[in-house]
Amino acid sequence: MKKMRIGIIGLGHVGSTVAYTLCLQGLADELVLLDKNKMKVQAEYLELSDTIHNLPNKAVLIKDDDAALKTADIIIFCAGDITVLENATDRLAELRVTSKIVEDVAPKIVQSGFSGVLISVTNPCDVIALYLAELTGVDKRKVIGSGTLIDTNRLMYRSGRDDVLVIGEHGESQVALDVPDVIEKLAAKTGWEIYAAKQHTAFGIASSVARIISVLEQDTGELLPISSYDESVGCYYSTLAKLSLEQGVVERVIPSLSSTERKRLQASIQTIKGNYDRI
Ligand SMILES: NC(=O)c1ccc[n+]([C@@H]2O[C@H](COP(=O)([O-])OP(=O)(O)OC[C@H]3O[C@@H](n4cnc5c(N)ncnc54)[C@H](O)[C@@H]3O)[C@@H](O)[C@H]2O)c1
Repeated sequence: MKKMRIGIIGLGHVGSTVAYTLCLQGLADELVLLDKNKMKVQAEYLELSDTIHNLPNKAVLIKDDDAALKTADIIIFCAGDITVLENATDRLAELRVTSKIVEDVAPKIVQSGFSGVLISVTNPCDVIALYLAELTGVDKRKVIGSGTLIDTNRLMYRSGRDDVLVIGEHGESQVALDVPDVIEKLAAKTGWEIYAAKQHTAFGIASSVARIISVLEQDTGELLPISSYDESVGCYYSTLAKLSLEQGVVERVIPSLSSTERKRLQASIQTIKGNYDRI
């Protein structure tokens, strides 16, 4: 069977938890660990080395080697600086910092000759996915954002239902379909509630990324609410999408919407586009 090589760029709370989750779930045969902070790379390399001896699937760890991205099947982009949020009330506060990080990292991805699927997690998620796609020149169908899978999971928990869906921006303008207002607001506040106590979030997003990767690897055809490029409006936002490792986004499916939901989705798209224009 083909070996899966997965690169992780940014080994902070999110990147290190993604690495750990992929090892536990046996989703990577080879993990390429990259961060501008070399001490962090070494620390995570050592921690993961301690871990894999307890696991049936012993991933090979590669560190500090941008060139190793050439043959990566998937890159997860989760570089950032979460401390920016300490005095902020919106994920957009990160944009000024994370857009500069994209400008630093994108040429390295290009230089490596990478041709796989790029999963962008860094916030603001939809804006950064587009910026990364533009600066790397990777086919936009092969660049996706982790999007509202995590928000949908949060809504499932808050509503006690498993038939719910969040689309649009991974951010304040997101649209929860067919749920009472009060539940929608509660779900949307979940990230901030976790952040207030931990000053980061990691488990929910790491398991969401692992789920996307498992769908890609196993080619299950499952529709996931992730951020993908809509050519007709020129931006990324979340709707249901069918994914494959070879092509990235194979199909985008917009669920049937009430007229209010449709207007809210349009407004969410305009919010994302407006934010992109602020780079
Ligand atoms: N989309 C989502 O649902 C979701 C959920 C949680 C977090 N996030 C986002 O993920 C990002 C990372 O969060 P975190 O808590 O891990 O942050 P963090 O500050 O803990 O870690 C970020 C890491 O990126 C590294 N980095 C910064 N610039 C870099 C560069 N130029 N090249 C390589 N590495 C670089 C830093 O050294 C650091 O280790 C943030 O933007 C956060 O908002 C998104």
